[in-house]
Amino acid sequence: METGMRSLLSDNGRYVESFRLFLKNSTEHECMQQFIETRLPDVVSSIGDGKTVINVLGVGSGSGEIDLKIFSKIQARYPGVPINTDIVEPSPEQLLSYMERVAKTPGLENINFTWYKKTSAEFELQVKKEKLETKYDFIHMIQMMYYVKDVPATVKFFRSLLAPNGKLLIILVSGNSGWSTLWKKYGSRLPLNDLCLYITAGDIADMLSSEGAKQECYELPSDMVITECFIDGNRNGDLLLDFLTETCDFNKNAPPELREEIIQDLKSPGCSSVKDGKIIFNNNLSAIVVESD
Ligand SMILES: C[S@@+](CC[C@H](N)C(=O)[O-])C[C@H]1O[C@@H](n2cnc3c(N)ncnc32)[C@H](O)[C@@H]1O
Repeated sequence: METGMRSLLSDNGRYVESFRLFLKNSTEHECMQQFIETRLPDVVSSIGDGKTVINVLGVGSGSGEIDLKIFSKIQARYPGVPINTDIVEPSPEQLLSYMERVAKTPGLENINFTWYKKTSAEFELQVKKEKLETKYDFIHMIQMMYYVKDVPATVKFFRSLLAPNGKLLIILVSGNSGWSTLWKKYGSRLPLNDLCLYITAGDIADMLSSEGAKQECYELPSDMVITECFIDGNRNGDLLLDFLTETCDFNKNAPPELREEIIQDLKSPGCSSVKDGKIIFNNNLSAIVVESD
């Protein structure tokens, strides 16, 4: 890694701010919502068969916007069946936003929330130490696998928590996205902060195949408008660049040559296209659904 740069995750306030701006500038949640509307009903159609309570685990749930949409599909399939949900999320700001969202959302009366202000690894440790035996009918890990240290071990652990008929949903950037292009070229020169950041859904699918896991993969086309990244001194552009490079204040702290190279590549066809005068980054995602063994 080049000197003088540190991971965006080391500054939680700035991370949350740039993540929110990313959501505003992209169709990230819209494409997930499309998946939830069109595909998820099928995915969850048998997870609760014969059960009096449905157990759901959310890992890296952020402020819960997507989680609540997922619940609505489980509730629609299994009306009136109580849902127990464990939420594992290390960021206090995100957890608080999630709790506020739950407090003001009607229709969640049959859902019992338990909050864990923990990383997935800390949660795994607690489960093992306290020999917790809960098995889950649905587990989701949406856009969070970049932040775990040992991806294969993490996937293996959460698969082991699946109940019979249970499903694990993993959503990550697609192997054909601009992210993949950027990470392949610059991953080694950006701050990893000893986290396994540069992983795509393609890598996870290969890993699962080699383990003989039953999985289905869905492509979720998505865009992100990054025009402001190319306007000097534009604060939104600075924050988006931080999010794209996972670097805290990239514009200020990156060596000039690296900054120049990345700025050029962000405009190139491997990462972006131009539409109506806007520069559109390829933010395509993939959803992988893994069945219990
Ligand atoms: C990109 S956000 C995704 C949030 C949400 N799932 C969504 O799609 O809107 C990543 C989330 O993972 C959380 N996170 C970071 N490191 C984590 C870890 N080691 N274990 C669990 N969650 C983590 C972050 O705090 C953040 O809320």
